[in-house]
Amino acid sequence: MTEEKANKYKLAAEQINAVLDTNISWVGNFANVAAIIQDVFGHWWCGFYLVNNNQLELGPFQGPVACTSIQIGKGVCGTAWAQKRTIIVPDVHQFEGHIACSSASNSEIVVPLFKNEKVIAVLDIDSIHFNQFDEIDKINLETIVQRLSDFYKD
Ligand code: SME
Repeated sequence: MTEEKANKYKLAAEQINAVLDTNISWVGNFANVAAIIQDVFGHWWCGFYLVNNNQLELGPFQGPVACTSIQIGKGVCGTAWAQKRTIIVPDVHQFEGHIACSSASNSEIVVPLFKNEKVIAVLDIDSIHFNQFDEIDKINLETIVQRLSDFYKD
């Protein structure tokens, strides 16, 4: 399971390196990264919320319709933004203030993207499985978003 997950991240990283494009706006690059993660892992929902107007606003994603804005400190996404750190939630029903965009989601990981030490966005991934995300996800997703942050221009 651990090795399988690591291999999937290797595949995802190769694909991401192959498609990231400095000649387009950040939107297409963020969209492609969401698409690659979704294609490789088949999670329930995978996408970005961007910091804009002092709130998190829905950005490129793969999966069902989602909440369009999240305030700082609210839900898992708003908490990861406020605390400037990755948050792994093994059971979203136990996370106080969890924002349920979909009742199918049972576990979640949220990874902030930094630019000049400021959070510019978060990557949010939801799973229908409990306990889906661990340190392997954290390390690999943090590496992916760090690379992606270089492609962000506001
Ligand atoms: N569950 C998130 C909200 C975003 S949706 O899951 C796409 C949260 O509590 O931050």
